[in-house]
Amino acid sequence: MSRAAPLTTRLTEFFGIDYPIVLAPMAMISGGRLAAAVTAAGGLGFIGGGYGDREWLQREFGNAGASKVGCGFITWSLAEKPELLDEALARQPAAIMLSFGDLRPFADRVRSAGVPLVAQAQNLDHIREALDAGADIIVAQGSEAGGHGMTVRSTFTFVPEVVDLVAERRPEVLVVLAGGVADGRGLAAALALGADGALVGTRFWASSEALVSPRAHQRAIPASGDDTFRTRIYDVVRQLDWPVEYNERALANSFLDRWHGNDEQLLAALPEAIDTFEKAVAAEDFDVAAALVGEDIGLIREVRPAGGIVHGMARDAAHILARAADSVQR
Ligand SMILES: Cc1cc2nc3c(=O)[nH]c(=O)nc-3n(C[C@H](O)[C@H](O)[C@H](O)COP(=O)(O)O)c2cc1C
Repeated sequence: MSRAAPLTTRLTEFFGIDYPIVLAPMAMISGGRLAAAVTAAGGLGFIGGGYGDREWLQREFGNAGASKVGCGFITWSLAEKPELLDEALARQPAAIMLSFGDLRPFADRVRSAGVPLVAQAQNLDHIREALDAGADIIVAQGSEAGGHGMTVRSTFTFVPEVVDLVAERRPEVLVVLAGGVADGRGLAAALALGADGALVGTRFWASSEALVSPRAHQRAIPASGDDTFRTRIYDVVRQLDWPVEYNERALANSFLDRWHGNDEQLLAALPEAIDTFEKAVAAEDFDVAAALVGEDIGLIREVRPAGGIVHGMARDAAHILARAADSVQR
């Protein structure tokens, strides 16, 4: 696909990129190759440092080569392995993104390394905390998003409320929308709501460079947004210590049908459920294993190279915005 014309916002100017499209730091899925592909296409790639595996992080920074990429961490998990932040900072990343937990213990280290700090947040208290901690960029995540988050807010009202709060408190801070952006319509809507760009997960999950099993892609591509919901079941069987306010959006399957809403039964049968889950992960059986996708899976009809996704999204958003401007002038 040919290169789209640049679409300039405060975010593109901040990072010196062509399009306000940011790859979400999806744990173990946004590897160096995907991050580098998004950056090469004119967006900004983030490696998904996730729960923090040093070898994985080193390998994926290696796979990104000399590309300008950022790195994201799950904040409560980083608190258990804080040395991984130094590992990432030593690579002079384009930015560090912290999501899900108290970012204050890390904020000064990131900022004193001269690296922009991006904070992903799900409610206004978290946004205020991020602003007070000195974040340069706020990602306002709505509940339609894939992967972890909270059930509290949908982007349509949350993002403009965040934009107003940030404008009042620290107008120099940029706002990025996360949740549901899979095409040009979503990106245009993000900009119309006052955001400076969009953080995109699910659409890049369904890209050729994502570290995703082809079987997961095959299962998810025909699905609609109705087939996803928020649950904690996969955190329980993965024995991850997620704080209770967070859950994750996943594709429905027979494993979730069996256990979602049956917490007590699951706890009683936990060793057996963990065993079933682990075997299914090894066998790539997504009737049991997790496909953590957002509602926007219903807008995605094929796996595509990341570069084509970036250009298609940027081009369509520019057309939509130009058409809207034309209709106002007439
Ligand atoms: C498979 C998957 C894994 C994710 N893992 C992380 C993660 O490790 N850290 C993080 O900050 N956000 C993670 N997210 C959430 C994204 O940062 C982002 O908020 C979300 O993808 C935006 O919604 P969308 O999926 O509709 O684009 C993940 C999202 C997906 C789909």
